[in-house]
Amino acid sequence: MDTRVIDGVALARRLREAIRERAAELAKRGRTPGLVAIRVGDDPASKVYVSTKMRVSVEVGIYSEHVELGADATEEELLRRIQALNAEPRIHGILVQLPLPKHIATDRILEAIAPEKDVDGFHPCNVGLLATGQPRFVPCTPAGVMAMLETEGIALDGREAVIIGRSNIVGKPMALLLLQKGATVTICHSRTQDLSSHTRRADIVVAAVGRPHLVGAGMVKPGAVVIDVGINRLSDGRLVGDVAFQSMLGKVACVTPVPGGVGPMTVTMLMANTVRAAELASRAA
Ligand code: GUN
Repeated sequence: MDTRVIDGVALARRLREAIRERAAELAKRGRTPGLVAIRVGDDPASKVYVSTKMRVSVEVGIYSEHVELGADATEEELLRRIQALNAEPRIHGILVQLPLPKHIATDRILEAIAPEKDVDGFHPCNVGLLATGQPRFVPCTPAGVMAMLETEGIALDGREAVIIGRSNIVGKPMALLLLQKGATVTICHSRTQDLSSHTRRADIVVAAVGRPHLVGAGMVKPGAVVIDVGINRLSDGRLVGDVAFQSMLGKVACVTPVPGGVGPMTVTMLMANTVRAAELASRAA
């Protein structure tokens, strides 16, 4: 079987063009979209992710600010920052890069972000809207995966989807989105017995656990669609996904590479959510 490698870089580039046009339209009316990313501490991966988000913001015409707080920043300090940004009309999107240091309660922080500025889609209000089928801001990684599936013309209605990973950021929202498109959804996780027995049934496998090369060719059925959300840094410095990419070639219908697959789509969806937040604010004004 010829395996199609889904090019996330090319798709992200196309979508960013449309986002740039929407941002320019807002800017013409004096309503340039604004995004603030807050990062706490020294996690090297978070630094890379946030600087990418800032760079892409500039590319699409979103005003952006990066707030960097030391690892000893208190929860109260972070809450004060968020409250100030909630009240700032030029800022339409606020994101707090996760994970946060252990002394800060992530739930309290995410709940402090005004739901209409929650471009990550992590506030319970936005989670609830997604769960009840009226999505406002959909978490960026699963939104990016859905955009890839749609662009590739992959049918979901009535198909078996297996997600590996149950995080609030990827696994759970991914399940809701696939469910809304009519897929039969299974969420597997670290306590799942016999993972392969689930993945081998799947028409669509989404791997999102952060375990290098966890999913090999023996775990998927011929002709499946395999989406790799993992980003793992090996000790030799290489960046790899949760899927053994090479082993999929010739066996599955579609696979996403790492890097160059879901990653660029995640950042693109953040831009789309920020422009949407600015459009909604502009309509409400
Ligand atoms: N950490 C890992 N993924 C994400 C994400 O999509 N948003 C934020 N804020 N932090 C993350």
